[in-house]
Amino acid sequence: MERQVIYADLNLSRDSGLESSTSPSLPQNVCQGPSWHRFALKLGCAGITLLALAVVWLSVSVIFLRQKLSIEKTSLDVQESRNETTERPALLTCPTNWHPIRDKCLFFNNAYKHWNDSLADCSAKETSLLLIQDKEELRLIQNLIDSGGIIFWIGLNFTLPEKNWKWINGSFLSSKILQVTGFAGENNCVSVSKTQMLSESCDSDNKWICQKELKPVRNKVCSVS
Ligand SMILES: *[C@@H]1O[C@H](CO)[C@@H](O)[C@H](O)[C@H]1NC(C)=O
Ligand SMILES: *[C@@H]1O[C@H](CO)[C@@H](O)[C@H](O)[C@H]1NC(C)=O
Ligand SMILES: *[C@@H]1O[C@H](CO)[C@@H](O)[C@H](O)[C@H]1NC(C)=O
Ligand SMILES: *[C@@H]1O[C@H](CO)[C@@H](O)[C@H](O)[C@H]1NC(C)=O
Repeated sequence: MERQVIYADLNLSRDSGLESSTSPSLPQNVCQGPSWHRFALKLGCAGITLLALAVVWLSVSVIFLRQKLSIEKTSLDVQESRNETTERPALLTCPTNWHPIRDKCLFFNNAYKHWNDSLADCSAKETSLLLIQDKEELRLIQNLIDSGGIIFWIGLNFTLPEKNWKWINGSFLSSKILQVTGFAGENNCVSVSKTQMLSESCDSDNKWICQKELKPVRNKVCSVS
C-alpha cells in the first residue's frame, strides 16, 4: 500500500511539473519569477565579474612581481659579472693627479719635507713612500720627472745596525739591481732625480713620491681619494 502511495505521489508531482511547464497559466509565474530571478542573476553576474577581475588582478600582480624579482636578480647578476669582468681595468685606474706605473699609482708631492716627515705624510694617506723594484721601473719613474734638478724622497734610507741601504718594507737594496750615488752612511736617505738615485742628508727638504699598489686590497684606497 505504502509503495503505491509513493508511486502515486511521484507520479503526481511529475504530472504537475509537466503541467506547469506546459500550462498556459505560465505568464503569471514567469512574471513574478523573472524580476526576482533577474536581480539574483545580476547579483550573481556582478559577483562573478568581481571574482574574475580579482583573479585577473591577482595573476597580473603575481606575473608583475615575478618579472620584477627576476629583473632585480638579473641586474644583480649583471652587476656581479660586471664586477668580475671589469676588475682588471678598474684596478688599473689611478685617481686624478696620480700616475699609473705598472701595477702602482704614484703621487708627486710638491711641498718640501724632511725624509721622516715625507714618510709620515704617505702613511697618513694610507700609501707608502716610493719603492722601486728594478731599473725598468726606475726608468719609467724618471720619465715622469722634469729635468732641472728636482729630486724626490723615496722609501730607502741607511740603517745603522746593518750599515746598509734598507727599503721601508724591510728589504735591503740589492746593489746588483739599483745603485745609489753618493755617501752611504749614518742619517742618509735616498732621493730620485731625472738621472739618478742620490744619497742625501735625511734632514734636507725635498719633494717626495707616494705610491699605492694596485692590489685588490689596496684598490679601495686607490679609488676613494
Ligand atoms: C662587487 O663589488 C662590490 C663592491 O664594489 C663587492 O662588495 C662585491 O663583493 C663584488 N662582487 C664580486 C662578485 O666580486
Ligand atoms: C722628523 O725629524 C725631525 C728632526 O729631524 C723632528 O723634528 C720631527 O718631529 C720628525 N718627524 C716625525 C714625523 O717623526
Ligand atoms: C721591498 O721593496 C723592494 C723594492 O721595490 C722589493 O725589491 C722587495 O722585494 C720588497 N720586499 C718585500 C718583502 O716586499
Ligand atoms: C730609516 O727608516 C726606518 C724605517 O724604515 C726608520 O725607523 C729609521 O729611523 C730611519 N732612519 C733615519 C735616519 O731616518
